[in-house]
Amino acid sequence: MFDIHTHILPGVDDGAESLEEALSMLKALKSRGFNGVFLTPHLNHPTVKTDKEFILHTFEDLRTELEKQLQVYLGSELYLSPNYEEPIPLGDTDLVLVELPTDVYPQYLEETIFDLQLSGYRVILAHVERYRWLAENVPLIEKLRDRNVLFQINLRALVAKHERAIWFKKHNLIDFVSTDCHGLDDLKVLDHGLVHYRELIQRSEELLF
Ligand SMILES: [Fe+2]
Repeated sequence: MFDIHTHILPGVDDGAESLEEALSMLKALKSRGFNGVFLTPHLNHPTVKTDKEFILHTFEDLRTELEKQLQVYLGSELYLSPNYEEPIPLGDTDLVLVELPTDVYPQYLEETIFDLQLSGYRVILAHVERYRWLAENVPLIEKLRDRNVLFQINLRALVAKHERAIWFKKHNLIDFVSTDCHGLDDLKVLDHGLVHYRELIQRSEELLF
């Protein structure tokens, strides 16, 4: 079982603030049966400023220490904009995790996703339940699915019975369920969440390896 969307790599974005916190988060995931975790710091985010080189160096520096607790892979959560920077794909895969503005439809959506796919990436749209412009736009959802865009949903939205999250679940549109954890508190959701969604999380493994 793997979590593909986390902000555990410490000190690089608005996620874990220290190595201790990162290790506690990995421990919490391990104790619930996770075999590995993808660390996906923000890239190109309009308000959370990050530096790709610093992310890469931090990962190299801390990897051994983190892996004493749990297998970790580097990735990124790329905020898509017309002039996005190159993402860090998830581990050795060709998968990239992307996010988009939540309230207003991004006119550049199809062009940028297509562009990433032309570069050889499979695209995962992060927390699909957040986008107001996508929610019940069935033609757009179908278009994205036809273009093989994968959908990730946040576990906490499912647990909270968030209306849009339930809608995606009901229509079998979920490829990945993740914690999108920014701190240890965000992992409290696992206790309740895994009772109901463990199978759904496990199922996505075949898309990863
Ligand atoms: Fe995130």
